[in-house]
Amino acid sequence: MAQITKKTALTLEERGVSRKELLQKAQKTNNDEFYTRYEDVEKELSMYPKRIWKDKVVFCNCDAVDDDGRTSAFALYFLRKFEELGIKKLICTHYAGQVDLFNQGPRGYVFTKTGYRESKEFPQNYTGSFDDPLSLKILHEEADIVCTNPPFSRARDYWRILIESRKKFIIISNITNVKNQPYMSYFEGGKVWAGYNEVDWFLNPKRELTRAAGHWYTNFPIRNRPKHKLLKIMPLKNIPEKYKKYDDSKVLLVDNCHIPNDYKKPFAVSVRSILNGLLEKGYKLIEHKEYVPYMNGKRCFGRVLVRKVSK
Ligand SMILES: C[S@@+](CC[C@H](N)C(=O)[O-])C[C@H]1O[C@@H](n2cnc3c(N)ncnc32)[C@H](O)[C@@H]1O
Repeated sequence: MAQITKKTALTLEERGVSRKELLQKAQKTNNDEFYTRYEDVEKELSMYPKRIWKDKVVFCNCDAVDDDGRTSAFALYFLRKFEELGIKKLICTHYAGQVDLFNQGPRGYVFTKTGYRESKEFPQNYTGSFDDPLSLKILHEEADIVCTNPPFSRARDYWRILIESRKKFIIISNITNVKNQPYMSYFEGGKVWAGYNEVDWFLNPKRELTRAAGHWYTNFPIRNRPKHKLLKIMPLKNIPEKYKKYDDSKVLLVDNCHIPNDYKKPFAVSVRSILNGLLEKGYKLIEHKEYVPYMNGKRCFGRVLVRKVSK
């Protein structure tokens, strides 16, 4: 039988907070409130072999499990598929915020499902933050696979903690991380690569569709990446003129996922080529920062520099 322990919420009056104050705090904390749609979670996670979940502890460390329809799509997916995937344990931690909306101090919680037993605990002084000591203990000592869409505003810290933990993961983050300096060494070092899909739509707290540029990232092997076929790898001379240019520094820029296979020097590609799996095709990133080309003195969109790995 499901067993859920939860404290009752207080009224605004009891919390000593006015509606205006509440809204002001909500606005300040609103930027991270992009919720993942269930269909996006299902579309991505169904691409991985079922055996990866068998007897594993799945940790969703930015995810609510609530009775009032606010359960995160990640939690919902694993609750529904718990038996089918043979998951050993699901742990979801939920963030209350350092300055929480109701002035009650931190009230993060830990939801756990093991077999048919479900429980929710509110440990004293637990914030629910992914970097709270209790969350880190769960990450290091219990979790096998981490799966979530973490707050965009804390993405840099989140990635560092996750990657240093050496745990397996499937997460959503910004589509441009591939060209953002704090993340590039992870891609270059083979610690992370793109998952299968991008995520264009999220839900805001009013459950309205909101556009944002997300992508899945993982360190599980991607077998026969479907997007490899979008890469047009060919001799430089075969790349149509309109898709190859040289910038003011004489660096070759290739577009529309055209990739020269006989060019020895570094050249610039869009993030899209990396997301389509270019680094798995014998090319490597050669700088840990975005490359911003100029053509006739005019700034072009940012790319990354890659080079063919010589054999
Ligand atoms: C992008 S939303 C995604 C929520 C949920 N994982 C999903 O996929 O729908 C990120 C959530 O993380 C919460 N959050 C903000 N800071 C956090 C922190 N330090 N630790 C854990 N969660 C945090 C935000 O309040 C927000 O609800």
